[in-house]
Amino acid sequence: MDAFSQGPEEPSAVENHDGDGREWWRDAVMYQVYVRSFADSNGDGVGDLPGVASRLGYIAGLGVDGIWLNPFYKSPQQDGGYDVADYFEVDPLFGTLADFDALLGRAHALGMRVLVDLVPNHTSSHHEWFRAALESPPGSRERDRYIFRSGRGPGGAEPPNNWQSVFGGPAWSKVSDADPQAAGGVPAQWYLHLFAPGQPDLNWECEEVRLYFDEVLRFWLERGVDGFRIDVAHGMIKHEDLPDLDVPEEATGDPDPSGMSGDGHPYWDRDQVHDIYRRWRKILDSYPGERVFLAEAWVKTPARLARYLRPDELHMAFNFDFLKCDWNASDFTRTITSTLSNLAEVGAAPTWVLSNHDVVRHVTRYGGGPAGLSRARAALLLMLALPGSAFVYQGEELGLPEVTDLPEDVLQDPTFVRTEGRVRGRDGCRVPIPWEPSGPGLGFSTGAPWLPQPASWSELSVSQQSREANSTLALYRRACDLRRNHLRPLLAGPDFSWVDAAQGLLAFKRGDDFSCVVNCSDSPAELPAAATAAGPVVLSSASPASSLLPEPAASGANRLIPANSALWFARMPS
Ligand code: NOJ
Repeated sequence: MDAFSQGPEEPSAVENHDGDGREWWRDAVMYQVYVRSFADSNGDGVGDLPGVASRLGYIAGLGVDGIWLNPFYKSPQQDGGYDVADYFEVDPLFGTLADFDALLGRAHALGMRVLVDLVPNHTSSHHEWFRAALESPPGSRERDRYIFRSGRGPGGAEPPNNWQSVFGGPAWSKVSDADPQAAGGVPAQWYLHLFAPGQPDLNWECEEVRLYFDEVLRFWLERGVDGFRIDVAHGMIKHEDLPDLDVPEEATGDPDPSGMSGDGHPYWDRDQVHDIYRRWRKILDSYPGERVFLAEAWVKTPARLARYLRPDELHMAFNFDFLKCDWNASDFTRTITSTLSNLAEVGAAPTWVLSNHDVVRHVTRYGGGPAGLSRARAALLLMLALPGSAFVYQGEELGLPEVTDLPEDVLQDPTFVRTEGRVRGRDGCRVPIPWEPSGPGLGFSTGAPWLPQPASWSELSVSQQSREANSTLALYRRACDLRRNHLRPLLAGPDFSWVDAAQGLLAFKRGDDFSCVVNCSDSPAELPAAATAAGPVVLSSASPASSLLPEPAASGANRLIPANSALWFARMPS
């Protein structure tokens, strides 16, 4: 049997591949694959699993440890697949279960782990459970799997409370009008959807829901996945009285709805959600290999995030505070310090991330244009020099900016419609990636891509950047290779200490033989001697085209670091 046809029962080629007793996920670099925008194998304009499988060599060549696949399950695609109609099937848009098995086997053969997305807060309204609920009366077992309530006001004509959908508009949809003929009179019935109406929230107080997700976990674990990214991991438990919010949360397009989370919020980050993770952890740990959970939890503070990472709960949780930092040394310093100290208390490693499919790409967030790109390149060196794991979102290795001028008629994010066009939504960070400098889909597809790519992206294509020594792609490859294959003995552990540096700079050491300096200011700055003492420059984020100093600090003569750039200093372990 070759690597491509490895079946689900085959042992994973990645098991114990570290061979050094370290838990792989504590310092892994993972690559996020937004399947519909990665590679299209059948010319329908939408990326798919065979497309991903065909490009796994490219991902492995970046020097990452694995991938996280966004949802590819059967779904009407009302929210990019985060509306799952069947948790045990692949949507025909993306392929088949056999395609998934082939992809998994091939990734493992290349030494990469595979995490899949788990969407437990809500199903699709096309899920068989929700269809059955609609056909069943109030108070039935079928309705108890979701959150149905009578409306307020005369005849229940108003939603049961004032909660707003994250995507805009009320978080409730009405399924029936008042029935005065029924015994006692039945007011209008509504169901809760914190996201789109096509995403009814599940009732996690219902044991049947818990048992069902136990099975979902087992199904994918038995196929051989290495773990799960948990969608809306902070949202599954709702206050039993569903009380009004003092101030209803407005949709702003910001995926962080956690402004008011923490103690007392009726649906975000409630304490009882942790019971679910303790239950799941037991299931996960009953499988061989080091499988992991990764939380998408937008919570108020690093201390609240640390609660998800207690030893009997989840392994990793995205650090969105880092992603939300402006390009500003003091912002970064504060966030890194507080993350490291809070997570150390529970023995967890941080998980750094700069971009994903829900946020404006960081080249653009950091100002766009040449300065935005220089800052994004420097941010990579910052992220990869910190203790913990890191996630790279497809296309950031090409320095892709946000696409801000997509025509309105192609936009698909439900936020655009739900906010009546007030918020454009997240399509701008989901545009298919350019593989080649020419062709209808720039090598992504032979057909028309589901979102149009800007013509300027031909210069950013993978094949173009593979030929340029100073491209962003070359920088990502070099940084991942150094971190994984040369600097690992210095970077894998938790060792970290700040070095005093001028205003606008961040500088830290990882032991005596590695340091990182980031210049967040718009002028060259003097390097702190304590950082340069860690060894010679082994990597610079500044390319000659974007830096003020052609060979930044390499000569050691002027000891300056260019504006908006980062340097790694190291004494390479032999
Ligand atoms: C977070 C996902 O990343 C996002 O894309 C999705 O819209 C929401 N959760 C709802 O599932």
